[in-house]
Amino acid sequence: TTYKVGYLVGSLSSVSINRRLALALERLAPARNLELVEIPIAPLPFYSADYDADYPTEAREFKSALESVDAVLLVTPEYNRSVPGVLKNALDFASRPWGQNSFAGKPSAVIGTSIGPIGTAVAQQHLRSILSFLASPEMSQPEAYIQTTDGLISPDGEVTSERTAEFLGSWLEAFHTHIAKSLAPVS
Ligand code: FNR
Repeated sequence: TTYKVGYLVGSLSSVSINRRLALALERLAPARNLELVEIPIAPLPFYSADYDADYPTEAREFKSALESVDAVLLVTPEYNRSVPGVLKNALDFASRPWGQNSFAGKPSAVIGTSIGPIGTAVAQQHLRSILSFLASPEMSQPEAYIQTTDGLISPDGEVTSERTAEFLGSWLEAFHTHIAKSLAPVS
C-alpha cells in the first residue's frame, strides 16, 4: 500500500535546511511506498480561542489537508532548545476547536536537522510530548537527528552523502511500517 503523508516544515526561512531535508525525503519516499506532500503552515494567523467559533479559511484548509492524508510528518528545526513558535501555532490550530482534533488517531513521525551536533533532539522530544497529548500514534523509533554540514543536501533536495541517503531511506521504510501498524484494524 502507498500511503499519503502530509508534511509540515517548522521553519519559514527562505533558505531553510529543514525544507531541504523535507525535499530530500519527498524524493526518497516513492521507492518506500510513501507519497509526501507539503501542508503549508505559513498562511496561518496566530491561534486564538476567539477563532474556535469560526475558523478562518486558511485554518479550515489546513485542517482539511491534515484530515485528507494517512499520516503526518513534522520536519523541524530546534529554536532555543524547543519547537519553533510557528510550528507550535500550527499544532494548536490543528488541535481545535475542542472535540475536532485533526491529529487524533493520525500516525505521525518527527525528524529535523540543525547546524549543531545534537541535531534537533531537544525540539523533537518536546514535539513527542505534544503528539502524545494529541493522541497521535507517533513513531518513537528509529530516531533521526540530522546534523547539516555544508552541501549535505542541495537546495532541491538531493542528498550528497550516500550514507545519509541510505539512512533516510531506511527511516522512511520504518515510517511506512509504523503507519501500516497504526492504521491496521483491530481484529
Ligand atoms: C537556532 N538554532 C539552533 N540550533 C540548535 O541546534 N538548537 C537550538 O536551540 C537553536 N536555537 C535557535 C534559535 C533561533 C531563533 C534560530 C534562528 C536558530 C540554529 C538552527 O539550527 C539553524 O538556524 C538552522 O538553520 C535552522 O533551521 P532552518 O530554519 O534553516 O530550517
